[in-house]
Amino acid sequence: MKKEISVLLLEDDIADAELVKYALREGGLNTTLERVETRDDFLSTLKHRKPDLILSDYALPSFDGLSALAMAQEKHPDVPFIFVTGTLGEEVAIRTLKSGATDYVLKTRLSRLVPALHRALREADERAERKRAEERLRESHEQLRALSVYLQYVREEERTRIAREVHDELGQAMTSLKMDLSWLGSRLPRDLRQLQTKIKAMSTHIDATIQTIRRISTELRPGILDDFGLVAAIEWQAHEFQTRTGIECVVTATVRDGPFDQDINTAFFRIFQETLTNVMRHAKATHVQVRLSREGDALVMEVQDNGRGISEGEISNVKSIGLLGMRERAALMNGGFQIRGVPGKGTTVNVRIPLPRLVPPVKSNHEDPPGRRSRGSPPRVEADSRG
Ligand SMILES: Nc1ncnc2c1ncn2[C@@H]1O[C@H](COP(=O)(O)OP(=O)(O)O)[C@@H](O)[C@H]1O
Ligand SMILES: [Mg+2]
Repeated sequence: MKKEISVLLLEDDIADAELVKYALREGGLNTTLERVETRDDFLSTLKHRKPDLILSDYALPSFDGLSALAMAQEKHPDVPFIFVTGTLGEEVAIRTLKSGATDYVLKTRLSRLVPALHRALREADERAERKRAEERLRESHEQLRALSVYLQYVREEERTRIAREVHDELGQAMTSLKMDLSWLGSRLPRDLRQLQTKIKAMSTHIDATIQTIRRISTELRPGILDDFGLVAAIEWQAHEFQTRTGIECVVTATVRDGPFDQDINTAFFRIFQETLTNVMRHAKATHVQVRLSREGDALVMEVQDNGRGISEGEISNVKSIGLLGMRERAALMNGGFQIRGVPGKGTTVNVRIPLPRLVPPVKSNHEDPPGRRSRGSPPRVEADSRG
């Protein structure tokens, strides 16, 4: 059996109400009909329950149809509202529809009532379904966002931990091996040349391994970022890039290394790395200019290359996962990411992230920048760091 449709009928004339009831029954509709006459009854019914459909006379002795419509829209905007009226001039009819009525049916043509009602209910169902779908979409989008935040956090933590372990554990093991080896060498008789040579070769090998360990741990997460801050890390990365690729990379920073939030540092730094990777892989550039500045309450990074220039198509391509990742990283920090290209002139990436209020930095005097150190807990938001 079909679901019962609850209809609220605003009608002062009992005979007319009967006619409506009759038309509904004739149309084979399974309805429960509640009739109200006055403004107060209408309002109180709306307050207490939500009908599936509202039918209303236009000219009522106690108040007018348009006010009834406004009340219904305020209480239950998604419930279809159909005027069932005596004569209604064309202008008035248009006005009711403009005001948000779903439809109007003349009392002299009540045969139209049931089709109008069906249509109104179907449309209301479709609207509700669309709304639910939008809601589901929004929810899943939010969940994806949250997941993305979580994954990035976990990934960064994991990298930091592995970087530290690789650097500290393996690094120390290698250093003590080297010391043992040198102890051994000093005690071997000088004339055992072959063994001495072997020891030398092993020692050189250990040195190279230590360098590799340093490189791996730094690539995982540069300690300089946590120990010396964003500007230092960007400068260091730019230098590394220039050495490795031969592409000139100049950093101009008009901000001092402030006590930026660790997450902000990470976001800027990872976006910078990804941008440089793109320059190396796609741009055919010979020069990169990096600008770090403060604009109002935001930290802004601009990376400009003089390469071929990214095209609109490449920017909007759904397969541009790298760009998507950078955009998402900035968005997660309530910031913005922009990339634009001029053909033959180059590509500019612009990242802007608002700075939260931070506690002042702890002074650090470390000597060896890329070495690993404990990151400690992230700085907590409290006092203002500006000025
Ligand atoms: N600096 C740049 N200069 C020219 N083209 C670029 C630059 N950066 C990105 N692109 C273009 O945008 C595309 C998307 O970049 P990205 O999302 O990082 O993907 P991927 O690097 O994996 O190809 C690249 O494939 C490239 O065609
Ligand atoms: Mg890329």
